Amino acid sequence: MSSYKTLDALVAETAGGSIILIRADLNVPLDERGAVRDATRLERLLPSLEKLSQSGFRIGALSHFGRPKGQRVAEMSLAPIAVALGDLLGQKVTFAEDCIGDAAQEALAALPEGGICVLENTRFHAGEEADDADFAAALAAPADAYVNDAFSAAHRAHASTHGITKYVPTYCGLAMRHSVGTSLCEDSMLETARAIMAEAETQGCTILLPRDAVVASQFAAGQSGETVAAHAVPDDKMILDAGPDAVGDICAAFDKAATIIWNGPLGAFEIEPFDAATNHAAQYAAALTRKGQLTSIAGGGDTVAALNHAGAGKDFTYVSTAGGAFLEWLEGKTLPGVAALSQN
Ligand code: 3PG
Repeated sequence: MSSYKTLDALVAETAGGSIILIRADLNVPLDERGAVRDATRLERLLPSLEKLSQSGFRIGALSHFGRPKGQRVAEMSLAPIAVALGDLLGQKVTFAEDCIGDAAQEALAALPEGGICVLENTRFHAGEEADDADFAAALAAPADAYVNDAFSAAHRAHASTHGITKYVPTYCGLAMRHSVGTSLCEDSMLETARAIMAEAETQGCTILLPRDAVVASQFAAGQSGETVAAHAVPDDKMILDAGPDAVGDICAAFDKAATIIWNGPLGAFEIEPFDAATNHAAQYAAALTRKGQLTSIAGGGDTVAALNHAGAGKDFTYVSTAGGAFLEWLEGKTLPGVAALSQN
């Protein structure tokens, strides 16, 4: 499995007062008055910024904004975003007129410990999208360390997401994939997961990732679980269930839904106490279905067993015993075993 250095490692390895560049995605929609229309991306950045600030670092935020193609475009300045970020953080966020050179260097050096400065749009330089080595080195020049917290720009091999990592010690921000300890993790599916998340963003779909998890030393009966934040899974523990906050988020989504399609359990439901999240969510969906508030459709081998284990399967609107066939049929695919029965 690949290993990534986290913010905890950065804090442990780096002296307070050091200059940390964080690659953020400040590419947020503005309304006609230039105010931020949707601050979700800024809000997601707050945990990393707050942790770096509380650790006494001097923080420079790098980001692109729009597609200015290597030119300075006034409407694509990050200056108003710096103000919005400061409002969300409840602390002054300064602004540097350039992301490299004297302007960046001086703005970062002027920060107090814990201070934050937004550096001007990286795409005002052609070297950004070209992943130019000289530009990447210029970006890195003032920094003691670099953090990437811009998952939504991680599909770009640009100087501020890629080239810069060759010139300065590099860490993952809290919005990137967190350490999962000794949990099973299919690294080979990472690109698929990225593609799904990018598609979801394009389509305006919400992917509910768990805010917390139940962890234990091993997948075995008799273990007691411990609830931790999703970004704080200890290195010697494995995730065996979703946590109570995560289940609360899922049930809140059920409340707003007319129909749900359920595939797969939430945790290692075969062993107590790691069946808690699956049981709770399944029973919640079953209760909404009984009230006539929800159409609940489920499928998949494990899913049937998990819903029956929770005592919820009988109340679902329909539970298919199929797994892959259920999903492919929902996708609209022709199932060979069905097509072969056609008499035409
Ligand atoms: C986005 O809005 O999806 C990211 O900020 C990436 O922007 P880009 O598609 O202009 O690289």
